[in-house]
Amino acid sequence: MDKELKTICGDAIEELKKIPDKSIRLIATDPPYNLNKNYGNNQDKLKFDEYLDFSRQWLTEAKRVLTDDGTMYVFMGMRYISYIYTILEQDLGMTFNSWITWYYTQGIGKTKGFSPRHDDILMFTKNPKKFVFHLDDVRVPQKYYRSVNNMRGANPGNVWEFSHMHYCNKNRKQHPTQKPEGLFERMILASSDPGDTVLDPFVGSGTALRVCQQTDRNGIGIDINPDYIDMTKERLSEKFDGFDSIDERMKRVPNDLNDPQIREEYIKNHVKWFLKNHPDAIGEFMQEVRDKYEPKMKESGQMSLFDLYGPELATVANS
Ligand SMILES: C[S@@+](CC[C@H](N)C(=O)[O-])C[C@H]1O[C@@H](n2cnc3c(N)ncnc32)[C@H](O)[C@@H]1O
Repeated sequence: MDKELKTICGDAIEELKKIPDKSIRLIATDPPYNLNKNYGNNQDKLKFDEYLDFSRQWLTEAKRVLTDDGTMYVFMGMRYISYIYTILEQDLGMTFNSWITWYYTQGIGKTKGFSPRHDDILMFTKNPKKFVFHLDDVRVPQKYYRSVNNMRGANPGNVWEFSHMHYCNKNRKQHPTQKPEGLFERMILASSDPGDTVLDPFVGSGTALRVCQQTDRNGIGIDINPDYIDMTKERLSEKFDGFDSIDERMKRVPNDLNDPQIREEYIKNHVKWFLKNHPDAIGEFMQEVRDKYEPKMKESGQMSLFDLYGPELATVANS
């Protein structure tokens, strides 16, 4: 599928004003949190009222460009999230859908008080009832196989565990607040269709556009820092070998896959459903299959499945 990935260097409010009304199905964005981060040419430090005014302005434009069945996800830190909620609900009349907690297991330590371990994401829709939500595309595997379960797995819930982008991650860019691709993968798969346009007005190192590129969405990414726009373009030209982060539950192998036919079908589907954007996780998944089911698979003559998901993992995942 031909897709367009557009990068724009400029101020989010000014650039949003140039985008036609109702032309964007999904906005997924991680704006500056006003925490005095150094973003090169911009410092992320406004007075309290100025920050709220800035937020109200870009959110107003963002709502205008959303299609009537569009969805908006906004990352935010603790200091301002309640104000962003109020702007979205009270000032802009959007409909609250979910408050998602991005839980990271490591972070800065406090000696007086509790160390912060989460950021949050507000999900609002323009219309209370009519909006896209592909639950089947974002389900996570269940712990036990039960014929009554939906085999596409369970709803991932509103607490999403992904570790920070550590400096040792091979996809880590020179950006101070790069987010894990797994977060954007889930928002984009759930709330847009292939071929839709997804907008991130604060694209930073290009995480949202990288996910659009790999999930057949068109993308528009805006950032005020030209170095980050160059970073995004370079990232889009890099070879893809799987998203840089995965919800660990996606590798889970259910217990009780005792019927050989069901077991084979399930293993094949697991790769297609849960690991299609994560070829590098297939090896670990197959190791767990081996740990749990090897004797049974020997008995039922299914050992060739381990060859099927052998070295050519990426090809299998994409087929
Ligand atoms: C929290 S970071 C986004 C990080 C991004 N999600 C990623 O994964 O790399 C916020 C970005 O907003 C940009 N920014 C700050 N003020 C802006 C403005 N007025 N218009 C557009 N971009 C702005 C900063 O340069 C920074 O890259």
